[in-house]
Amino acid sequence: MPLLDRFSLSNQVALVTGAGRGIGRAIALAYAEAGADIVCAARTLADVEAVAEEVRALGRRALAVSCDVNDADQRGAAVSAAIETFGRLTHLVNNAGGAGPNDPLKMSAARFEEVLRFNVSSAYALTQLCVPHMREAGGGNIVNITSGAARYAQPHFSAYGAAKAALTQLTRLLAQDFAPQVRVNAIAPGPILTAALDRALPADMRDGMIRNTPLQCLGQPEDIAAAALYLASPASAWVTGKIIEVDGGAESSVWPG
Ligand SMILES: NC(=O)c1ccc[n+]([C@@H]2O[C@H](COP(=O)([O-])OP(=O)(O)OC[C@H]3O[C@@H](n4cnc5c(N)ncnc54)[C@H](OP(=O)(O)O)[C@@H]3O)[C@@H](O)[C@H]2O)c1
Repeated sequence: MPLLDRFSLSNQVALVTGAGRGIGRAIALAYAEAGADIVCAARTLADVEAVAEEVRALGRRALAVSCDVNDADQRGAAVSAAIETFGRLTHLVNNAGGAGPNDPLKMSAARFEEVLRFNVSSAYALTQLCVPHMREAGGGNIVNITSGAARYAQPHFSAYGAAKAALTQLTRLLAQDFAPQVRVNAIAPGPILTAALDRALPADMRDGMIRNTPLQCLGQPEDIAAAALYLASPASAWVTGKIIEVDGGAESSVWPG
């Protein structure tokens, strides 16, 4: 097989959470370009419908589902809709997640748990729903989107950083549980220019972040999508339980103390 053919996802069906914008949208489009049919999931139906249209324009089938990953019923409905529509499910991208900076003396324990639920428990629950379908399809693949914040020691990120660190270790552990049929890997992005980062980033910090990045620019969603395609496809057939850091070479954060 020519090496480039190993990046193909033809005949695969992928559920991508947070697919309405940013990194999730870019991954949905990359998987579609490689030949997969896509279930685009996020809370705002208009956004995922627009991305589903972009997938169809690439010649693939697409389903848009409104799904809050924090809601068990909605998670179940999204997976059921995928099976009803496409008859199988082979790929899952746990991309929906996030949290802003927090003051550990002000953020309540209840809010801390919400951050864990959004970033870690939802991925665990979706994995639990999807793996049986992957096994039925003869194999499957999971890509989790964690963050450089999982390993940087920086102030103000005890909730987000701890949640993403948990997702990172969950990735490594589930890879052991589900091998060899289902591979589980993760990507740890550095700062990627999406609406989420734009919202959280004070204007004067952007330059500092760029200076802190050896490759001298912020990342684009497509930088993450390219790594996701590698991890999702047979190109990475001998890779599981690993975290790819896609961060322009940054080894620390510049969030002010
Ligand atoms: N951007 C960065 O610099 C960066 C760096 C490291 C890691 N990450 C991680 O990358 C992932 C994506 O971030 P992004 O920057 O692409 O964010 P984004 O541009 O804000 O997009 C987030 C997507 O997730 C959806 N979403 C939000 N809450 C959801 C929920 N409860 N259930 C289902 N979908 C939900 C949003 O749509 P709705 O609001 O309509 O649901 C949207 O489609 C996150 O896990 C984030 O932690 C980002």
